[in-house]
Amino acid sequence: MIIAIDGHSSCGKSTIAKALAKKLNFTYVDTGAMYRAVTLFCLQNSLITNDVVDETALESRLHEVQISFVKNADVQETYLNGVNVEREIRSMTVAQHVSTVSKIGFVRAFLVKKQQEYGENASVVMDGRDIGTKVFPNADYKFFVTASAEIRAQRRYDELMQKEGKANYEEILENLKQRDYADSTRKESPLKQADDAILVDTSNMTREGQLEWILNKIQ
Ligand code: DC
Repeated sequence: MIIAIDGHSSCGKSTIAKALAKKLNFTYVDTGAMYRAVTLFCLQNSLITNDVVDETALESRLHEVQISFVKNADVQETYLNGVNVEREIRSMTVAQHVSTVSKIGFVRAFLVKKQQEYGENASVVMDGRDIGTKVFPNADYKFFVTASAEIRAQRRYDELMQKEGKANYEEILENLKQRDYADSTRKESPLKQADDAILVDTSNMTREGQLEWILNKIQ
C-alpha cells in the first residue's frame, strides 16, 4: 500500500507521515530529505555559486550520491555516502539552496526513480511535493497538507529554537514564502494538490488531532 502525503514547506507533513508509518508499521520515506541531501552534496563540492548550480558537473557526479535512511534510537536519520547528515540537511544554508537544486530535471528523475523503488518493495508512507501527482499517481491514499505561512514559520521557529537554541522568525517566514513560490511555479513537477487528494489544513489542529483525522479517513 502507498500513502502519499504532499504539501507546503514546514506544514507538519513529515510529523504526520512518521506517526502514520509507525502506527501502520509501514516504511517512512522523507523525499524532502533526499533533495536536501543532493543540495548538501552540491555545497560540499562547491557546485553552487551565487545560487546557480553547475549542472554539467552535478550531472556527471550524481552517481556519487548515495542516500540512505537509518533508524537510530527510534528516529529515522538521513545518510549521505555513509555519513549521518540529518542535522546538516536541516540547516538554513541547505534550505536556502534546496529549491534551486530541486527544480533541475535530471535531479528529479534520479530521485523519483529511487522513490519508486522504495514503493515496489514495501508498504510506504511517503511525504514530499509530487508524490500523489508524479511519483505514485495511483497511490492508495493521497493527502495534501497545508497551514498558514505564519503558523508554519512559528512551528519551524519553535523546532529550531529547541534543537539549536537560536532562530530568526522573519528569516524563516521569508524562506518559507520563497520556497512555496519556487515549488509551486517551477516547470518540473510543481507542487500542486492532486485532483483526488484529500486536503488537510493543520492550522488549528494538534499533532494528535492530525493523525486521528487522517487515520479516520483511511479506516
Ligand atoms: O519537505 P522539505 O521542506 O524537507 O523539502 C525540501 C525541499 O525539497 C522543498 O523546498 C522542495 C523540495 N522537494 C521537492 O521538490 N519534491 C519533493 N518530493 C520533496 C521536496
